Amino acid sequence: MAKLKVGMIGGGGPGAFFGRVHLRALSLDGTRELVAGALRTDPKAALASAAEWGIRGFGDWREMIEARARGRLELDYAVITTPNNAHFAPAMACVEAGIPVLCEKPMTMTVDEAERLAARVKEKDVPFVLAHTYTGHPMMMLAREMVRRGDVGRIRKIEAWYTQGWLATALEKDGQQQAAWRTDRARTGISNCGGDIGTHAFVAATWVSGLKVRRVSARLNSFVQGRDLDDDFNVTAEMDNGATALITATQIAIGYKNDNGFRIFGAKGSLEWRQERAESLLVRAGECDRTYWIGGGAPFFPESVGSYLRVPAGHHEDFLEALANLHCTMERTIRRRRGEEAPAPYDHPGAETGVAGMRFVAAAVASSGAQGAWRDV
Ligand SMILES: NC(=O)c1ccc[n+]([C@@H]2O[C@H](COP(=O)([O-])OP(=O)(O)OC[C@H]3O[C@@H](n4cnc5c(N)ncnc54)[C@H](O)[C@@H]3O)[C@@H](O)[C@H]2O)c1
Repeated sequence: MAKLKVGMIGGGGPGAFFGRVHLRALSLDGTRELVAGALRTDPKAALASAAEWGIRGFGDWREMIEARARGRLELDYAVITTPNNAHFAPAMACVEAGIPVLCEKPMTMTVDEAERLAARVKEKDVPFVLAHTYTGHPMMMLAREMVRRGDVGRIRKIEAWYTQGWLATALEKDGQQQAAWRTDRARTGISNCGGDIGTHAFVAATWVSGLKVRRVSARLNSFVQGRDLDDDFNVTAEMDNGATALITATQIAIGYKNDNGFRIFGAKGSLEWRQERAESLLVRAGECDRTYWIGGGAPFFPESVGSYLRVPAGHHEDFLEALANLHCTMERTIRRRRGEEAPAPYDHPGAETGVAGMRFVAAAVASSGAQGAWRDV
C-alpha cells in the first residue's frame, strides 16, 4: 500500500507550534508522509524550513498547488496550519484544484468566508476535515456514540469548557509568536478566545450531543489591559431541542493548561470527559458510576471507534493519537474513494461544522456587544 503524500501550508520556523505536531501525528501510522511544504510567509525562510525538515520546499503555497496541477508534484492531501487569516485562501485554492484539505480551526476569519468555502467543498465533493483535535479522542467519539444510541436519554443540559491561563498577562507585548497573532484582530478575526478555544468547546457541545445551537446570550471580557479582543468567553446557548448549554472558554485562569471537557446531562444519565484525562470516560447512570478506560480490543467500543485505537488497555493514547485520528479519517476517505480497502471513516468535523463554529462565535460577539441580548445563530 503506497503511503499517502501530504503537503503542509504553514508550520515552519523555530517558534512555530502546531505544524510540527501535525508532522508527528500524520507520520504516526507509517501510511502517510509529509513530502512537500510552503511552510512560512517569507519564500526564502519557507525553503529553508523545508530543507530542515527534509521535504520538497515551495516559497509560496500557490506554487505548491501549481506544481501538483502541472503533474510535477504528487500530493494526496494538504494540511493548513497557518494563523486564521491564512486559512481561507489556500483552503479555497486547494478545493478548487480538487486537493483534499485538513484545515486548522477556526475554519476562516469570517462567516462569509466559511460559507463560501463550505459551499465549494460541497459542490466539488472534496474531502475536508476540520482539525478539532479533541474529536479524535476515542473516548469523545465513544461519548458521541453513547448519546446517539440513547444511553443518556433526551439531553437537558450541557456544560462544555476550555480553560487556559497562558494569556493571563500581556504575553503578546513580549512578542510571543502564538500570543501575538491570536490577539491581533487582523490575523485572528473578531474573537481571540472564542475563535481559538471557544470553538473547541462549541464542538464538544454540538458534535457529541448531535444538537445545534439555536441562539446565544454572551458575555465576552478582555481582562488584560490594552487587549483589544476577548480573553474570556462565556455563552449561554439554547439548543434546538430546548436544552441549555453553558459554553465557556478562558485564557486568564492562572495555572490552567488545556482543561477542555464536557458534561452532558440527559433524562437517563450523564457523561463526563476531560481532555487532560482523555483516556477515561465517566458515565453516571444512578447510584453507581462507571468509568470506561481506553484500550484497543475493549468490547464496549463499537467498530466505528475501535478501529481508531492503536494499543491495548493500560498503554497510553493521547493528544498526538487524537490528531493522528483526524489524519486517519482523511486517509480512509481518500483510499475508499480510490477503491482501496480501508475501514469506514468516522464522521469527524468538516466544513459544515466550520461554518457553524464561525456563526456561533459571530453571534456571541454580537450578543456580548448588546449586553447579552439573545442573538440567533
Ligand atoms: N487543533 C488544535 O488543537 C490546535 C492547536 C494549536 C493551534 N491550532 C491552530 O493551528 C493554526 C496555527 O497555530 P500555531 O499556534 O501553530 O501558530 P504559529 O504562529 O505557531 O504557526 C503559524 C505558522 O504559519 C506560518 N505562516 C503564516 N502565514 C503563512 C502563509 N501565508 N503561508 C505559509 N505559512 C504561513 C508561520 O510562518 C508559522 O510557521 C491556527 O489556526 C491555530 O488555531 C490548532
